[in-house]
Amino acid sequence: MSLSREQMLVEMGITPIWVLRDDGATAPADEAPEAAPAGRDVRPMTAEPPPAFSSRPDPVPAPVAPEVELRPMTPVDTLDWPALTKQVAECRACPLCQQRKQAVLGVGDVHPDWLFIGEGPGAEEDVKGEPFVGQAGKLLDAMLASLDIARGDRVYIANAVKCRPPGNRTPEAAEMAACWPYLERQIALLKPKIIVLLGKAAVHAVLHDDKSLAALRGKRYEYAGIPVVVTYHPAYLLRNLPDKAKAWEDLLFARRLLREAATPELPF
Ligand code: URA
Repeated sequence: MSLSREQMLVEMGITPIWVLRDDGATAPADEAPEAAPAGRDVRPMTAEPPPAFSSRPDPVPAPVAPEVELRPMTPVDTLDWPALTKQVAECRACPLCQQRKQAVLGVGDVHPDWLFIGEGPGAEEDVKGEPFVGQAGKLLDAMLASLDIARGDRVYIANAVKCRPPGNRTPEAAEMAACWPYLERQIALLKPKIIVLLGKAAVHAVLHDDKSLAALRGKRYEYAGIPVVVTYHPAYLLRNLPDKAKAWEDLLFARRLLREAATPELPF
């Protein structure tokens, strides 16, 4: 299926109608949207109003789970997929294991062109064992469709941490560091041709850079010789619809880098 540019923009919802809103919603400070037009509090309206949750939905405090004894991680740098899957499922390397229902390793084509990396499982992912199955996941699927790709076909989706942070908070730096060997091994096994980092946590995990996404996007980075592109997290985009146009630019940039990598320059 090949979509026209207009169809792709519609697919990603980049055709907002501006209406007055005063729901007092705020965006994460580090990913603040551009100023609204002409001094008024206007936000784009979509056919369905965006769900009222932040970039980490579910404000309900998580129940306190019984303490599970933590164990240091054993090295994973030689593991194959079955061994890595088992080790992640049984991981006790950081406190996130104490309240998870299950660890969520990732999903998709294990010989992908694209690797998308998000933050960490939310409530629905924790139940289903698959990344990005909630509202943010629906938007991610629309973003993939706009690139003519589908979950599982030339694309793999993973997260900076494999266990749900309680209350859907952002994972802490120490939790991302504890989980990093798993993501590192995944990348080594997947050998993607392009990596797209969705939001600040993924950027922190892979590039160790804490600048704002506005400052980071639009440039080519590299991890282990693989081109890396930074863009907004889909959950952020659900609340900041005008930035979908920027995310679309980022995806086009990533696709260009992917194509360049596939067709090396002629030697003359
Ligand atoms: N947000 C993420 O970053 N990852 C998921 O898997 C779901 C929501």
